[in-house]
Amino acid sequence: MGVMHEWCRLLAVSVIAIVAAGAPAHAQSGGDPERGEKAFKKCAVCHSVKAGEKKTTGPNLHNLFGRKAASTDDYKFSDAMKKSGVVWDEKAVDAYLLDPKKHIPGTKMVFQGIRDDRERADLIAFLKKAQ
Ligand code: HEC
Repeated sequence: MGVMHEWCRLLAVSVIAIVAAGAPAHAQSGGDPERGEKAFKKCAVCHSVKAGEKKTTGPNLHNLFGRKAASTDDYKFSDAMKKSGVVWDEKAVDAYLLDPKKHIPGTKMVFQGIRDDRERADLIAFLKKAQ
C-alpha cells in the first residue's frame, strides 16, 4: 500500500499545482519582459521608458517602481493623480493597468485597461527592466 499511496498523493499534488498555475492569478511576478516590450507598443503612443525622453501625451515611465504617482516634472498631471497618494509598486501598477479610471478616478490617462492578467504581468516585468 505504501508506494501506491505515495504515488497517488504526488499525483494529486501535481494536479493541484497545474490547476493553480493556470488559474487567473493576480498579475505580480513572473512576467516576461520580452512579451512586455511588445505589449508596451500600446503605451508607447503616450509614454517613453527611456531616461529623460519627453512625450507631450504622457509622463516618462523610466524608474517608475518605488516612486510616488505624479512625481516626475516632465508632465502636467491631473489633480486626481497628484492627490492619489499612490506609490508605484507591482500591485498599484497592476490595479491601474487593469482599470485606470477605477483605480484612480479622474485620471487623465485615456486608456481602457488590460483585462489579461498575463499581459499586465509582462508589462510590469518590462517596466522593471527599463528602470
Ligand atoms: C492615450 C495616452 C496613454 C496611453 C495609451 C497610456 N497612458 Fe499611461 N498615462 C497617460 C497620461 C496622460 C497619464 C497621466 C495621468 C494623470 O495625470 O492623471 C498617464 C499615467 C501613467 C502612469 C502613472 C505615472 C506616474 O508617474 O505617476 C503609469 C504607470 C502609466 N500611465 C502606465 C501606462 C502603461 C503601462 C500603458 C500601456 C499599457 C499606458 N500607461 C497607456 C497617457 C496614456
